[in-house]
Amino acid sequence: MTSRRKPDNLNFDWVYSDFLTGEGLETAIHDVDVIIHAATSPRKDSKIIDVSGFGEFLNMCQHIKHFIYPSIVGIEDIPMKYYMHKYQAEELLKNSSVPHTIIRATQFHSFVENLLLSKPFFKNYFVPGNLRFQSVDVVEFSIHLIKIIDDGPQGIADDFGGPEILTLKEMADLKIKVNNESNNVVNLSFPGKLFKSFLEGKNTNEHQKVGKITFEEYLRNKGK
Ligand SMILES: NC(=O)c1ccc[n+]([C@@H]2O[C@H](COP(=O)([O-])OP(=O)(O)OC[C@H]3O[C@@H](n4cnc5c(N)ncnc54)[C@H](OP(=O)(O)O)[C@@H]3O)[C@@H](O)[C@H]2O)c1
Repeated sequence: MTSRRKPDNLNFDWVYSDFLTGEGLETAIHDVDVIIHAATSPRKDSKIIDVSGFGEFLNMCQHIKHFIYPSIVGIEDIPMKYYMHKYQAEELLKNSSVPHTIIRATQFHSFVENLLLSKPFFKNYFVPGNLRFQSVDVVEFSIHLIKIIDDGPQGIADDFGGPEILTLKEMADLKIKVNNESNNVVNLSFPGKLFKSFLEGKNTNEHQKVGKITFEEYLRNKGK
């Protein structure tokens, strides 16, 4: 495994690397056959880490037998800079000679939950409640990524979506129910193409309800 910070309680080899500077990358992939490339930086330096640095990294990966790239459902239809960068990275990989699998997932449960952290403000969650999500459990997706190693390079794999499509209002209501909160949900609506794309569920794939763990189960399991 490679990243900048060494994770706690790691029981396999780890080496330092940084996609911003390129430091450590050669060492990290020396003698490696398969890469699951989960490094990403949605908020800072995304253009470098997710696109230009990614392209340079691919040039170093000519010996790799299977490059697995987790991506996100619907990114070409959602006008967000980070998603545009993910799409550009997919294109770089598709046009490379590196044997690969691009596997898109829907948003993780934790991602959607973080949207609801936007304060129990005056005992209310203010959310764009009509947006739709098909969130999926990150552990289930990780297990799927590991399984793809055995399947071999597929080019573009089927999407890995969560088990149900819910509105953000429904998800906020679940959070209130599971945690016995006294908050209410105040539904906001915003103009613009970005919100429209989530409103229309471009980030979902109703034909690929592959994950089993629902958002409600994820919330309940957190409390244990
Ligand atoms: N979050 C979602 O809802 C979602 C949904 C579908 C697909 N995905 C995709 O799944 C993958 C993982 O997403 P995630 O949400 O789990 O990401 P994350 O929690 O933000 O983790 C990103 C990883 O990238 C590493 N990283 C960041 N900057 C780096 C740098 N400069 N050099 C080396 N490593 C760096 C981080 O480790 P260090 O900080 O220690 O370096 C961290 O391990 C991404 O490809 C993402 O697009 C995410």
